[in-house]
Amino acid sequence: MKKIISVVGARPNFMKVAPLHKEFLKHKDKIQHLICHTGQHYDEKMSKVFFDELELPKPDFYLGVGSGSHAEQTAKVMIEFEKILIAEKPDLVIVVGDVNSTVACSLTAVKLGIKVAHVEAGLRSFDRIMPEEINRILTDSISDYLFVTEQSGVDNLLHEGISKEKIYFVGNVMIDSLVYYLPKAEKSKVLEDYELEKGKYILVTMHRPSNVDNEDGLRGLMNMLNELAKEHKILFPMHPRTKHNLAKFGISTDNDLAKNIIITEPIGYIDFLCLTKNAELVITDSGGIQEETTFLGVQCITLRDNTERPSTVEIGTNNLIGTDLVKAALAVNNVIAGHSKSGNIPELWDGKTAERIIKVVQK
Ligand code: UD1
Repeated sequence: MKKIISVVGARPNFMKVAPLHKEFLKHKDKIQHLICHTGQHYDEKMSKVFFDELELPKPDFYLGVGSGSHAEQTAKVMIEFEKILIAEKPDLVIVVGDVNSTVACSLTAVKLGIKVAHVEAGLRSFDRIMPEEINRILTDSISDYLFVTEQSGVDNLLHEGISKEKIYFVGNVMIDSLVYYLPKAEKSKVLEDYELEKGKYILVTMHRPSNVDNEDGLRGLMNMLNELAKEHKILFPMHPRTKHNLAKFGISTDNDLAKNIIITEPIGYIDFLCLTKNAELVITDSGGIQEETTFLGVQCITLRDNTERPSTVEIGTNNLIGTDLVKAALAVNNVIAGHSKSGNIPELWDGKTAERIIKVVQK
């Protein structure tokens, strides 16, 4: 019997491990699959709701590390995860994405001589100011299996001198979740809950430090949304970091915002999928949402200077605009005026990625 531990830490990890877990269950006579939740995200709406909706079992291990500086968070995960690895002696650790828990757990495992698989390897923004870029580079450089979502990932890894025997182009496991849960999302009542009409609202998410940690930037963003709200309905499910910073900078979400802007707590996976699918346009700085909009053929305006997911721009419906809010407003109006981008679905984003990954790790 092989023992494999998959790690989840933050919100974007849950929808990547769920399809792997479902697939592992088909092989439960040969593989014991355990889940370790580091507790990087701990709020009900940032974590538990995803476990429930994605039909993930209660994690086998919960490290409860919570928030902190990068060093604190990463170090706490390492200290706690090491204890689990020493006790459990797994054959393989699977880490996904690019959050602090990803790098912390991969580093802990390789130091104990345990093999590591990185799902979503090879993505590069080439912007080392992003904490995620450092997490990606470090995790890839020590992993034994590199599972890649798009061709750029393969090219980046080869360019960094990683041997091609370690690289597996398998597609996008997050899209497995999307394909699986789309029928459920179609039945969601979330549009009615917020009195939204299909194709007649803008969905906004914004949480990157580069967009929300600086007062001028965040004020500018809220002003831009206020301006857009004169003619459009806007739904903005808000990440705790963004909410915290609005309060810190004294930007009120009650009085300072136009009526047409609805600010909500973070929204669960199924309802959010429904909101994405039916939006006229999505404005975001998220990584995963660039991919989900591309798969769904929904227009996406990304307020970042770079993307580690270039296929969403080259093949998909993503418009990479940068952080200049004047340009962003122009781009939004342009799309709404009908100058939308036609897009295709990148290779192997077909709902069968977990199956391909498990074939490899089974050997
Ligand atoms: C993390 C990831 C980022 C990912 C994002 C998705 C890193 C370096 N960053 O960023 O790549 O896109 O998750 O959400 O790993 N907080 C809560 N409740 C929670 C979690 C966080 O209130 O459940 C608050 C805390 O005040 C915390 C802040 O949000 O300090 C930021 O959380 P943190 O985990 O440090 O990073 P994220 O910004 O969420």
